[in-house]
Amino acid sequence: MPLLPTQILGNLPLPVTRIALGCMGLAGTWNPAEVGDEHRRKAITAYEAALEAGINFFDHADIYGGTACESIFKDCLEAVPGSREKIVIATKAGIRSGFYEHNPDYLRRSLEGSLKRMGLDFVDLYQLHRPDPLSHPSETAAVLDEMYTQGKIRAIGVSNYHPQQMLALRQFLKAPIVSNQIAISLLHLDPIYEGAEGQGGDGSLDQCLAFGITPLAYSPIGGGWLSGKRDLPEEPVFRGRIERILGAMKEIAPQYNDATPTQLALAWVLRHPAGIIPLYGSNNPAHIQEATAAAQINLSREDWYKLWTASRGSRVP
Ligand SMILES: NC(=O)c1ccc[n+]([C@@H]2O[C@H](COP(=O)([O-])OP(=O)(O)OC[C@H]3O[C@@H](n4cnc5c(N)ncnc54)[C@H](OP(=O)(O)O)[C@@H]3O)[C@@H](O)[C@H]2O)c1
Repeated sequence: MPLLPTQILGNLPLPVTRIALGCMGLAGTWNPAEVGDEHRRKAITAYEAALEAGINFFDHADIYGGTACESIFKDCLEAVPGSREKIVIATKAGIRSGFYEHNPDYLRRSLEGSLKRMGLDFVDLYQLHRPDPLSHPSETAAVLDEMYTQGKIRAIGVSNYHPQQMLALRQFLKAPIVSNQIAISLLHLDPIYEGAEGQGGDGSLDQCLAFGITPLAYSPIGGGWLSGKRDLPEEPVFRGRIERILGAMKEIAPQYNDATPTQLALAWVLRHPAGIIPLYGSNNPAHIQEATAAAQINLSREDWYKLWTASRGSRVP
């Protein structure tokens, strides 16, 4: 099995693998009180499978599993001694129950909670989970710069930021913003270009290209729909779209060593010149192994457009 290719992520010293593991489902529950030995065993098995497949980049958030994902990650790190130094750990903060918050004291407390749960002295990449309309970006920037200067976070990222929100935060931050974590997949085209009805793309990827910011793609296989292994949804428009994409994948797969839909969905995201890193979410060792093989696929221009066209439901204008 060839090693996963890597790329530089902002100012981090360790290059990150072209595919990361999204840890939103790592605990297998959203209720920390439910976590038991079986949850821990499964999480450790998934972590070991990811390392085995060559993944060195792991994405968390304080809220995943109601905090259980970060706590269980500590067990994962302890189960594989020496692994912490070889990986890049990302987490996020700023989403609370029913609202967002970038209040400096809240963010400080949230970071301390994440560090404690994972048993870390610092996180490699600290991301604002969503923009908070009630926080002035100057205040948010000041607390991020403080954490960065203290060495508690090694790089700063954002998530779900539109280009103008990125500009506003950048205006006040001394440290660079190295990543924007957004939904990108064949089922979420907004950041790429215009949609089927001609509505404009949102410009996120162009901004990443212009500023050298790495896009991190969440839900890169559409939350599972693009695996081709799920029963299709009832709703006819969405169902038709998935059928078209899976149909186009079936046509091109023989040219890529019979690549699976999951692999083609990831290869489609990987092909963009912005150096998008898909945050692939799975706890299943076989699925993780299958997914990482996507990094070896180099889709032709024609096939990339064929999949895009299938998702749009119309030829490009
Ligand atoms: N910033 C944000 O607002 C935000 C929002 C959502 C997600 N995220 C991040 O993105 C990561 C991934 O998100 P996601 O889970 O929505 O994305 P995804 O990778 O598109 O989908 C994951 C789902 O697909 C299933 N799956 C994967 N491979 C499969 C296969 N070969 N066959 C059948 N099913 C398969 C997984 O189930 P199995 O476990 O059974 O494989 C899981 O249910 C999260 O963990 C998180 O880090 C961020």
